[in-house]
Amino acid sequence: MTAGGNRAWFDRARQVIPGGVDSPVRSFAAVGGTPYTVVRGEGPYVWDADGRRYVDLVQSYGAVLLGHAHGAVTAALAEAAAAGTTFGAPTPGEVLLAELVTGAVEGCEQVRFVSSGTEAAMSALRLARGCTGRDRVVKFDGCYHGHADALLAGAGSGAATLGLPGSAGVPAGAVADTLVVPYNVVPELDERVACVVVEPVAANMGLVAPAPGFLEGLRRACDEVGALLVFDEVITGFRLGPGGAAARYGVRPDLWCFGKVIGGGLPVGAFGGRREVMAVLAPDGPVYQAGTLSGNPLATAAGRAVLSSVGPADYEALAGRARRFGDGLAGAVGAAGLAVQVPVVGPLVGIFFAEAEVGDYAAARASASSGRYAAFFTAMLERGVALAPGPYEVLFPGMAHDEAVLDEVVALSAEAAAAVAGG
Ligand SMILES: Cc1ncc(COP(=O)(O)O)c(C=O)c1O
Repeated sequence: MTAGGNRAWFDRARQVIPGGVDSPVRSFAAVGGTPYTVVRGEGPYVWDADGRRYVDLVQSYGAVLLGHAHGAVTAALAEAAAAGTTFGAPTPGEVLLAELVTGAVEGCEQVRFVSSGTEAAMSALRLARGCTGRDRVVKFDGCYHGHADALLAGAGSGAATLGLPGSAGVPAGAVADTLVVPYNVVPELDERVACVVVEPVAANMGLVAPAPGFLEGLRRACDEVGALLVFDEVITGFRLGPGGAAARYGVRPDLWCFGKVIGGGLPVGAFGGRREVMAVLAPDGPVYQAGTLSGNPLATAAGRAVLSSVGPADYEALAGRARRFGDGLAGAVGAAGLAVQVPVVGPLVGIFFAEAEVGDYAAARASASSGRYAAFFTAMLERGVALAPGPYEVLFPGMAHDEAVLDEVVALSAEAAAAVAGG
């Protein structure tokens, strides 16, 4: 399987897969060069088809929390696979994972599993509309909720306008009820709004923390008009801690979206909320939602292995390492003479090449337009560190990244930044 290097694999991929990738950011279009083809991962590392090892800070965009090929996950998968991979019938595994999720997230009394974060957000939106009998959805510029038509607005469009399609192929009608507003500003709502959907910590425009009072303000604004508040915790869920962003900021939404960590690296998503809201879903209620592979035994086994392997102390220790890493990165890159901002929220680390703190998508875009990220990305990759190949992503140090590994990344970032600054 590993015959051929990165170039050969990518050339082959481009013959049979559009752009050579199954998700566009992987193509390196934003940073230039040939994508590395991963043949293996272990802990904080991945190896490519050229035989090179990288410290991996992508970690499947946050789907991997324990590190690659963690023994708890691979053992759980082997056991689950031996018992059959999918049945189209209820299984104990989905019940056990739902108990873990609802037990950890206060106020989230029921969850339904799906197969991706996109499906989770799409289904939560339909449920919110079904619950309220309203059509309008408010989302924030620069927040990503997967690629369902209605939520694909605002990936670069102006703020506070009724959404324009963010992709060819999205009919204007699909986003006609999507209102895109700036992040970190509490919008004016009215009684046409079914829900406000938000990344409680924005992690798809680089990393942007919620401004003090923002999430509380959204809760209040929703309550005033009878709209539902939806926290998209596909990234933050079980990564900031067992209670996610809702627990961290003490704001309880009506609906949650989950994905990534809760599937232990397998395709998964989930949406959940209060019992009476979830009761509006079929078969008990009129909102239809379904999936052949939903609650898949392999995905739920991997998810359970991850959630039951970590506790609050592990999250706290990881956040400590991330803070130290962020400080180190900011110091190393700044010392090379590059203006840099390194926001850190729990274990999430962002990097903006900017003079001032970044608080919304407009500032994130301005930072990305300098092209510095691409140069830094390439310089890091050459030195054996894999960052995400795009300026709007974040770094995902996880449970497998110990201080020694992160210190090594900081040291390499000093070299990479010097190379970038030297032109
Ligand atoms: C906050 C958020 N919501 C939804 C999604 C979509 O998830 P998926 O890629 O599993 O469809 C993502 C993916 O990165 C995400 O970051």
